[in-house]
Amino acid sequence: MNKRRNFIKKSILGTVGASSLIKCDVPTNSNAQATYPRIISTWNHGLSANKEAWKNLMDGKNGISAVEAGVKISEADPKVRSVGYGGFPDREGIVTLDACIMDKNSNCGSVSFLQNIKHPISVARLVMEQTPHVMLSGKGALDFAISKGFEQEELLTKESKKDWIKWKEESKYKPVINIENHDTISMLLIDNNGDLFGACTTSGAAWKMHGRVGDSPIIGAGLFLDNEVGAAAATGLGEAVIRTSGSAMVVELMRQGHPPLEACKLIVDRISKIHRSGPDWDYLQVGFIAINKKGEYAGYSLKKGFDYAVCDNENQNSLLKADYSI
Ligand code: GLY
Repeated sequence: MNKRRNFIKKSILGTVGASSLIKCDVPTNSNAQATYPRIISTWNHGLSANKEAWKNLMDGKNGISAVEAGVKISEADPKVRSVGYGGFPDREGIVTLDACIMDKNSNCGSVSFLQNIKHPISVARLVMEQTPHVMLSGKGALDFAISKGFEQEELLTKESKKDWIKWKEESKYKPVINIENHDTISMLLIDNNGDLFGACTTSGAAWKMHGRVGDSPIIGAGLFLDNEVGAAAATGLGEAVIRTSGSAMVVELMRQGHPPLEACKLIVDRISKIHRSGPDWDYLQVGFIAINKKGEYAGYSLKKGFDYAVCDNENQNSLLKADYSI
C-alpha cells in the first residue's frame, strides 16, 4: 500500500457560496470518516460537480436529481474535454457520448453512442424512468431524446476541432487519460438516509473509432451500486474496465467485507495483471472510486495522477490524490 501522505485542496462550500483554496496534509485513506450525506466524484472537475449536487441535496432534492444536476456541470463545460459539450471527438471528428445513472432501488438507465445532445445523463435518467429498458444507443437514443424535447446541437467546439485536425496529421491512437487532470466524470452519493445513487458520463476516449462505446454507459463496468452494500464507479480506459466488470466487482468485494480502498486496489491489480504485457500498457490508466453503506470511501488508480473530489459536512469539498499501484 502506498504510504505517502497527500495534499488536499479544500474548496470551502459554506452554503455553496464562494470557494477558496487551502492546503492541509492528511493520509490518503480517509476510510475512517464514516458519515453521510457524502458525495464523491472523479477528477478535479468533480469539485464543481459535487458543489452543484450538494446544493441540490441540501435544497431537498432526491439523490438521483442531485447526481444528475452535479454531472451536468461537467457535461456543459467546454473546458472539460473528456465529457459532453467540448469533448474530444472520435477519429471522424464526431463527438459521441456515453452516460448512465442508477438509484437506490437498482433502477438504472443508460445511453451510448449518443450525438448532438448536450446532457446525455438526463436522457439516461429518462430511459430509466420512462422506458421498460436500461440502455438505448445511437440513433434510437437520439430519437428518444428528441421525442422528450431535447434540442440537437453541435457539440464539437472550435478548440476540439482544432485538436482533431492536428491529431489527424499523425492519426496515432494513444489515449492520454490524465490529460488536463480529468477524464470521465463518475459521481457517487450517499444521502441522509444512507441510500446510494450514482451517475457516470463521458465523451469517451479521444480519437476512438466511430461507433466505439466505452465502460461509462455499462452498468457494472462504469458504474454499479447495491444499496445494501455500496457503490463504485470508474474512470480511465473503458476497455480495461469492461474486461473486469470493474465497478460491479468493487461492490462485490465490499460485500465480502473489503473496505473501499482495498476493494478498488484488488480490481486495479486484476486489471494490471491482465494488461501488463498488452499493447495498451504504456498508456493504460484506470481509476475507481467507491463508497460503502457507512459512507466510508476511497479512490485508487493504476498509475499516478488520479484524483477525486469528496464533499460532506466534515471535509466540505476537497480534492484528494488517489493512491496508486505503479
Ligand atoms: N472511461 C471512458 C471511456 O473509456 O470511454
